Order: sequence, then C-alpha cells, then structure tokens
Amino acid sequence: VIEIVQCRMCHLQFPGENCSRGRGICTAGTEEACMVGRISKKDGTPWLTFKDCLKNCADVKGIKWSVYFVSFSCCRSHDLCNEDL
Ligand SMILES: *[C@@H]1O[C@H](CO)[C@@H](O)[C@H](O)[C@H]1NC(C)=O
Repeated sequence: VIEIVQCRMCHLQFPGENCSRGRGICTAGTEEACMVGRISKKDGTPWLTFKDCLKNCADVKGIKWSVYFVSFSCCRSHDLCNEDL
C-alpha cells in the first residue's frame, strides 16, 4: 500500500496551453488521491482542466453544470499519476 503520493497541482489550464494558475505539487495522504477535473462544453469541446489533491476523490463522468459538463478522474498509483490521466 502506497500511503503517500505526490500529485501534480494546477488550478487552471486551457487545452493546448501550459498551466496558467497554481502550478505545483501537492501531497495526498491516505484518504486523498490525485485528481484531474475536466470541464467541457455541451458539445464535448474541452474547455479547461484542473489538477489537485482531493479527499474522497471519486471518478465521475459528465455531470451537467450549467451549459458545461464536469468530469473527475482520480488515481494514486504513483507520484504525479494525474499528469497522464
Ligand atoms: C509551455 O512552456 C514551455 C516551457 O516553458 C514552453 O517551451 C512552451 O512553448 C509552452 N507551451 C505553450 C503552448 O505555451
């Protein structure tokens, strides 16, 4: 069991661009995981992503939020695993 993993953190990133806000590394403890959140438009066009450490992280696909869809992916398999989710 890997108790602690490091995760990529980036609070705001637009498609095809580098992280524009809050780039860094966070540490996920036993109850946390690395996370990638994605927001896309109704037609599926990616709009922005964010990465962080998250407690009680759950994989969710396409929750409707206003005119957008929000998805979360979680991992804790290795350090910075959320860089390639
Ligand atoms: C992202 O950052 C790298 C390193 O600073 C730079 O070389 C690259 O051109 C940037 N990419 C974009 C899309 O801005």
